[in-house]
Amino acid sequence: MSDYPEIEIYENPNQLAEAVADLFVREAIASIEKTNRFTVALSGGSTPRLAHQLFTTEKYSKIIPWDAVCLFWVDDRCVPYDDPASNYGAALEDFISKVKIPKTQVYPMPTTIEPQTGAMEYEKELLSAFVCRAGDIPSFDCIFLGVGTDGHTASLFPGQQELWEPERLIIAVCGGNPHVDRLTMTLPVINRAKHIVISVSGQAKAKTIEEIFAQPEKNYPIQNIKPAYGRVSWLIDKDAAGLLPLAASGMK
Ligand code: 6PG
Repeated sequence: MSDYPEIEIYENPNQLAEAVADLFVREAIASIEKTNRFTVALSGGSTPRLAHQLFTTEKYSKIIPWDAVCLFWVDDRCVPYDDPASNYGAALEDFISKVKIPKTQVYPMPTTIEPQTGAMEYEKELLSAFVCRAGDIPSFDCIFLGVGTDGHTASLFPGQQELWEPERLIIAVCGGNPHVDRLTMTLPVINRAKHIVISVSGQAKAKTIEEIFAQPEKNYPIQNIKPAYGRVSWLIDKDAAGLLPLAASGMK
């Protein structure tokens, strides 16, 4: 991790969720001012859901310029969208079905076809949406990540050689909890993002967070989030930051 990563610590999961939603708005408005669109990739799991649900509230639903948002996924489980394990399915329920984002700008991963084929399909979709040639690496305006207690991020799990995939943008893996086939972005595309936002909540992650910042030798997947040019922001609630030395934390 860089010597002085940007870490903001929030009192509780609700304040963390508001901070994530506020950051989403700021990044969206700034990107759209520059390029007329906001390319963003979301992670799944439970942490992001509070922020996603905020998108449908009075405060956020009117200020997010949904007609210029292009929404992708960092990873998803290879299950039908109506399966409780589906990251896209959760986002659809939490906000996509309730906000005015053009359906043509929502890019769910193809999780119901053979995983290797799904990975190739999504990679093609990514390259086409970014008007990239094969071999190019799209640069997202913003990628939102979470962290597992084992230090995984996206669906890049410790000890799996897929973590070191040097070229592919999207790959099929098997692992995690639930232990299922998944599609995931790889480090090359994640580390090309202009801004990577890592949000972590809950006391169960405190030991992992302490190790991430104090023990680089752990070489967790999340410790390989090192964007070439981009920025990394850590938004952590007090419970997850409980073992961080106070000096390293900027309590909000
Ligand atoms: C997934 C997620 C994954 C998630 C972490 C944290 O599909 O599982 O993308 O990378 O961010 O597992 O999950 P929680 O927020 O549920 O702890």
